[in-house]
Amino acid sequence: MKKYKVVLLSGDGIGPEISEISSEILKKLSHKYSFDIEIKEEYFGGIAYEKYKDPAPKATLDQCKSSDAVLLACVGDLKYDSLPRELRPESGLLKLRSALNLFANIRPVKIRKSLLDASSLKKEIIEDVDLVVVRELISGIYFGQPRGQITNTKVKKAFNTMVYDTKEIERITEVAIKIANQRSKKICSVDKSNVLEVSQLWRDTVLDVASKNKDLSLSNMYVDNAAMQLVKDPSQFDVILTSNLFGDILSDLAAMITGSIGMLPSASLSNSGPGVFEPVHGSAPDIAGKNLANPIAMALSTSMMLKIGLNEEKAADDIEIAIDNVLSKGYRTSDLDNGDCNVLSCSEIGEKIIQEI
Ligand code: IPM
Ligand code: MG
Repeated sequence: MKKYKVVLLSGDGIGPEISEISSEILKKLSHKYSFDIEIKEEYFGGIAYEKYKDPAPKATLDQCKSSDAVLLACVGDLKYDSLPRELRPESGLLKLRSALNLFANIRPVKIRKSLLDASSLKKEIIEDVDLVVVRELISGIYFGQPRGQITNTKVKKAFNTMVYDTKEIERITEVAIKIANQRSKKICSVDKSNVLEVSQLWRDTVLDVASKNKDLSLSNMYVDNAAMQLVKDPSQFDVILTSNLFGDILSDLAAMITGSIGMLPSASLSNSGPGVFEPVHGSAPDIAGKNLANPIAMALSTSMMLKIGLNEEKAADDIEIAIDNVLSKGYRTSDLDNGDCNVLSCSEIGEKIIQEI
């Protein structure tokens, strides 16, 4: 029997509620497909800060490193915003990404037919959307040095550095090419090379790597235009390749095309070693503990984990099919309420999904 060790980081806010459902889904699938899965829960994010004064304790990182895959819900709460930056839950997340060398963040944006009416954009604009954002995740302005604040002058100053080297751009471009080759061989690289030197290097390097792949169609777009085009005509995109900060912004934008950020999963990968699979959404402290959260992005992240991280393709597909079945029967969480559906709580929709598996 195949055996997997998965580290589950439920984190903060709605994290425990949506994690519970994914755990149940994994247990059911392990029986159905006869694999053994050990789900090891670890402290991470604000809850780890509360217990260990560290949002990403070494013990947690060690467990993650020795796992087959990491399933992460979400971290953060307003109450941690006044902590020194290195103690905040978000810094823990960046530390995890860096510790596991997760340079490639994959965020698929797919329209589910039964949710065509949940988007704030017109149905005709979004019905053919099927794109992937490939975001560089452990460099750029998120990690660039120097960074800091100067407070000993009359006027306070703060600064960050947006920096990439060619190796970092090459390896993320190669991931985008691999994904594009399994799709329609079309990449749009997004930068701000009309203003930023770092973006010029990005553009030149992407062009260089892509030119070695003759049947690839590569276009470039400035990030401001890309934001506009994603709203105007999102189906023009297939693979969007971009840097850390631009990918953060564009993936939230692209998520809303689907109707709710509660629908979007992601995978963060290195060239070897375990990946981290997590929803794109945050910890939603306003609805935490109220059984209102949408567990679908977490369930879809679990599906990505099974497919990419554990090679359990059939089990992964089962989750996708179960979710589509539940949605097409008109069941929704309140974030997807269009006034004409059956609104369920987080745990109720979780049960429906589990029943369909
Ligand atoms: C994301 C999140 C994180 C990021 C935050 C929580 C640090 O917004 O995964 O998109 O900015 O990368
Ligand atoms: Mg984000």
